[in-house]
Amino acid sequence: MQFVKLSIVILSSLFLVAACGRSGASERYVIAESKSYEATLFRQNCAICHGSEGEGKTLDTGIKVPSLREGDFKAVTEHQIHNQIANGGNGMLAFRRQLTDREIQLLVTLVKRDLRGQ
Ligand code: HEC
Repeated sequence: MQFVKLSIVILSSLFLVAACGRSGASERYVIAESKSYEATLFRQNCAICHGSEGEGKTLDTGIKVPSLREGDFKAVTEHQIHNQIANGGNGMLAFRRQLTDREIQLLVTLVKRDLRGQ
């Protein structure tokens, strides 16, 4: 009896883990599949350094470009993310002359809500 109970506990926790894993994966925002304007902006301006899905990469120059989806973020608040995109720094270009304030704001939302799920 004890064994049966234990098996049920183990099986149900395995099921929970599997269920969580699946729902997480299906909710992942795919930049390449999005027709939104901000996804287009990302593909045109950001993917070259941050990777096509914002996963980050090391450039040929040796600069390490961080993932925009996970890790310890330097830019956390909307204001900080906006500032990073507008002014760049530390290996990132400044976009305040290439993009309008509205476009930068759309990218802030893409990073914070769609990529980081915050
Ligand atoms: C020339 C390469 C390059 C391009 C193009 C670029 N980035 Fe970056 N980005 C970087 C690097 C390098 C950093 C790390 C800066 C640092 O460590 O302070 C960074 C940092 C960031 C961060 C802060 C990450 C954190 O830790 O919180 C955000 C947000 C960001 N970039 C968004 C963008 C967006 C949006 C675009 C497109 C408009 C873009 N970047 C284009 C190289 C780039």
